[in-house]
Amino acid sequence: MQRTLTVVLAGVALAFGVAACSGGTSGSSSSTTTASEQASPTATSTGAVKSASATKKSTAAVKKSTSAAKKSTSAAKKSSAVAVKKSKSAVKPKTVAMAGSATLAAGAKVFSTNCSSCHQAQGTGQPGVFPPLAKNPTVNGDATRLIHIVKYGLSGSVAVLGTTYNGMMPAWHSTLSDADIAAVLSYVRSSWGNKAGPISASQVAAVKQ
Ligand code: HEC
Repeated sequence: MQRTLTVVLAGVALAFGVAACSGGTSGSSSSTTTASEQASPTATSTGAVKSASATKKSTAAVKKSTSAAKKSTSAAKKSSAVAVKKSKSAVKPKTVAMAGSATLAAGAKVFSTNCSSCHQAQGTGQPGVFPPLAKNPTVNGDATRLIHIVKYGLSGSVAVLGTTYNGMMPAWHSTLSDADIAAVLSYVRSSWGNKAGPISASQVAAVKQ
């Protein structure tokens, strides 16, 4: 009888304990919520103040860097202005020496119409039959000799880049004007890896048979 009572009491105590515990837990959880609700706006506002001051600082930093950028921009402007002045004076004689793009375009047309059938579109020629004009020393060499070949034709044995040619190229002076020959030679001398200077119409006119 006594034993049963103890068990019952223990059971009641246990039940009470559980109830108290769960009550306590729910109570503490609700209080936690309240605490965090109260704490969070304070924390946020403090954080906001801090970040605001950080923003101010970074704004000041941005201002500083902007003025630094302005300074460097004006410095760059000055130096680029100097560079432009220098390059302008440097470009002048080059422009005179260079054939215009219009001349080269005209030269390309003269070439495709009159020369490419034998010397090929890329100036490679045909080994043993038509000599290559690409990387050809005669093409890149003395202007007078080159003009003479095209103006008055070429026949007989010639060695070009290690290959012998013994054919015949007709004269072009009756088909092409001095300007055409100048344009085509300027084109040939600046194409396919060739890097020789342009030839003018007056240079072509000056070469006699
Ligand atoms: C009918 C074919 C033919 C046509 C078209 C032709 N050529 Fe030629 N060309 C030759 C032959 C062949 C030779 C080599 C002649 C020889 O063996 O003596 C040659 C030689 C040359 C050479 C000299 C190469 C060297 O290294 O001695 C030049 C430069 C040249 N031609 C430029 C031209 C130009 C520019 C044109 C267009 C206006 C042209 N040729 C059109 C056949 C042609």
